[in-house]
Amino acid sequence: MSEFAYREGELYCEDVPVARLAEEFGTPLWVYSKSHLLTRLKQIQDAFTDVDPVICYSVKSNSNLSILQVMAEAGSSFDVVSGGELYRVKRAGGDTSKIAFAGVGKTDDEIRFALDNEILMFNVESEPELDRISTVAASMNKIGPVALRLNPDIDAKTHQKTTTGKKGNKFGMDYEKASQLADKVLADPNLELRGIHMHLGSPILSTEPYEKAVKRGQEIVGEMRAKGHDINWINLGGGFGISYHTDEGPDASVYADVIVPGVKAANCRLALEPGRYITGNSAVLISQVLYTKHEGGKRFVIQDGAMNDLMRPAMYDAFHRLWPVKTNVEMPLDVEKEIAGCTPADVVGPICESCDYLAKDRALPPMERDDYLATFSAGAYGSAMSSNYNSRPRGAEVLVDEGEYRLIRRRETLDEIIAHELSCL
Ligand code: LLP
Repeated sequence: MSEFAYREGELYCEDVPVARLAEEFGTPLWVYSKSHLLTRLKQIQDAFTDVDPVICYSVKSNSNLSILQVMAEAGSSFDVVSGGELYRVKRAGGDTSKIAFAGVGKTDDEIRFALDNEILMFNVESEPELDRISTVAASMNKIGPVALRLNPDIDAKTHQKTTTGKKGNKFGMDYEKASQLADKVLADPNLELRGIHMHLGSPILSTEPYEKAVKRGQEIVGEMRAKGHDINWINLGGGFGISYHTDEGPDASVYADVIVPGVKAANCRLALEPGRYITGNSAVLISQVLYTKHEGGKRFVIQDGAMNDLMRPAMYDAFHRLWPVKTNVEMPLDVEKEIAGCTPADVVGPICESCDYLAKDRALPPMERDDYLATFSAGAYGSAMSSNYNSRPRGAEVLVDEGEYRLIRRRETLDEIIAHELSCL
């Protein structure tokens, strides 16, 4: 997280003081480090270079056009889950020929849009979806490139709301089904089997699930080849964990150590769909204190960042480091411990829900009205999941590049929030 560091008690993003950005653009404000985005992408590109990887940046983690532009310029491809995400990639100038299209509910229009753009492959999640791809491809005189998404029944030990590779959740299919579908593809002139896909969950801090998955993938590729498929791709999805607390997030090379040998042994190319690994620690959410109060024996810091901005704490009980933008108290590595000069506080937002909080029982220095607060690790599934709940405009976003910065999304206006609603009078 070195792109976000305190210099003499004040938080900087690269060479720009964050408070200056908050004063210029207001709060809540997302502040991104371009250098972090590029460094993290390069770590993955380098770690997997031996298996000629296609890194499909997972657009869902952060779909801002400027972030997609940065990714495209640095040679990334994209993982999309909707026509909307594909549209964004095109608008950002991304190459569509290396796109992986995932998701359990692709519509005919989305399939057509993807085929028109010659994507690399659809990650197919069910037999009826395979049939639709075939039908739509036939109507366009095209061949639908597919990868079968396997549910490998591996427990990746993530939050129950973000696990995907366990039996019983809606994603993928078991091996028997994949084998049947592979036979179907062989007999279908409008389909071509390019690979297998597995996504195990998110975030995953241990390498063990990947090790198991790649081993299973290797076996399945062998079985598919024996059936007569010319199959060349293993797509292991995303899910690489990051440091939300201290430095618990492994480097991409740690995952590569267990993945690369299996992909090589299968004589395949590797596709990956990392989102959080690239964007997670690329941003902080800056908010401003409105009020403080003590009630029921508790200290509350009420600030203008809310669950409509960063939904992760409310939705997944997620932990985000949080610290004043300007303070004489040094931010400790482990902010969950007791800290001299700090008392525990709940940091809450203005939304009328008791799950509207950014942090609970968190040791914090004294805070006053107008102080700025930084919530760290906010780049993935932050602005991308933000909403207008309570009719709050979504925040502005700024991209910092060394000493320079650019507004990459302006704050919404109230008129924009209601722009699509029609009067019934
Ligand atoms: N590929 C597939 C098929 C996925 O379902 C996902 C995430 C990814 C790639 C990217 O995973 P990543 O590398 O970013 O971990 N909103 C939740 C996370 C939901 C993840 C959904 N799928 C959160 O805030 O933690």
